Amino acid sequence: MLLNKFIKPSLFVQLCRRNIQSKAQKRPPLAFAFDIDGVIMRGPEPLPKARNALRILDGNNSLNAKIPYILLTNGGGQTEFDRAKKLSSRLDTQISPSQIIQAHTVLKDYVDAYADKTVLCLGGVGDTMRLVAESYGFHKAYTTTDVLAWNSSIWPFIHVTESDLASAKPIDFSRTPISAVFVFHDPRNWGIDVQIICDVLQSGGLLGGPWVEPRTQDVELVFCNPDLLWKSDFSRPRLGQGAFKASFQAVYSMLTGSEYPYTQFGKPTQSTYDYARRVLHDLLDRSYGPGSGTHPRMYMIGDNPESDIAGANAAGWSSVLVHTGVYDPTTGPPRHVPTHEAEDVEEAVVWAIEREREMVRQIEEEEN
Ligand code: G3P
Ligand code: MG
Repeated sequence: MLLNKFIKPSLFVQLCRRNIQSKAQKRPPLAFAFDIDGVIMRGPEPLPKARNALRILDGNNSLNAKIPYILLTNGGGQTEFDRAKKLSSRLDTQISPSQIIQAHTVLKDYVDAYADKTVLCLGGVGDTMRLVAESYGFHKAYTTTDVLAWNSSIWPFIHVTESDLASAKPIDFSRTPISAVFVFHDPRNWGIDVQIICDVLQSGGLLGGPWVEPRTQDVELVFCNPDLLWKSDFSRPRLGQGAFKASFQAVYSMLTGSEYPYTQFGKPTQSTYDYARRVLHDLLDRSYGPGSGTHPRMYMIGDNPESDIAGANAAGWSSVLVHTGVYDPTTGPPRHVPTHEAEDVEEAVVWAIEREREMVRQIEEEEN
């Protein structure tokens, strides 16, 4: 056969086999994006129905199909690899790093522009944000701890410990301009980080340098998580990175007369939902072969109407609001109306699968 002339027999067999396989394993009609805090986890503990919900997607469902899913969180503070490992052990299931999208994961798209420029990565504990940034490809990433180790008088109210200094990366910030400030994760000490961001921006990137005219400031400022509130294991929702941003901008505009322009990522932003759609389509192409059939309907399962539901609705996805997190149904209808509300993540998953089964059944009925 002509084809054999150009392709080694083994490769030909592989291609045939792949073609048969992808034809055999039809893409499921739906896929899921799960929020983490308030849907799957409550603080360090899995929520009661989380394990079973993921078991249902592993094939134990009325579609008899393995249903693909990603975890889409405004949280962060570690690499996707570490998060996947921890969640897999807490939830007794296998979750791969490629299924995890944290608030700062989208910054992988910024590496080309900033790989060899000095950037400040804020949030989290100690040097974790530098390690995450370096794992993405940022070669000159520094943290609040590095700034304090360089000159602790930048924030006179703190005593820098030996262990802080141990994890610090030496640099002379008075000679090394900072090109961008990325707020990767929720800052642990708002006072220090507000002070440092103001210092970087007002001096055009050269810490401790003279103030520059506001309009000349071209240090890029990026926030990764807009959440004002989020649900951990405390009885009431907690302040999130969005509250930190509001505090920073309040101080900065008192100092300079106006807020500093910034880029926002995280749910509900379109860039984060577009990133999530890309990741999920790659997952599907890897599982079922590229272009084999239409993309499944996307279901976002979330606890926060402002981030999970607003973003999913704007992305044209179906959305399910659960009652195990930020949203409290006794406070009235949510500002952003979901496709459906459910008590918990398991009820949400079962509802979505039954909805799709019903749709498939109706289509088949019409075709017959
Ligand atoms: O810091 C995390 C928090 O803002 C929300 O996380 O998983 O509910 O999007 P998540
Ligand atoms: Mg949540």
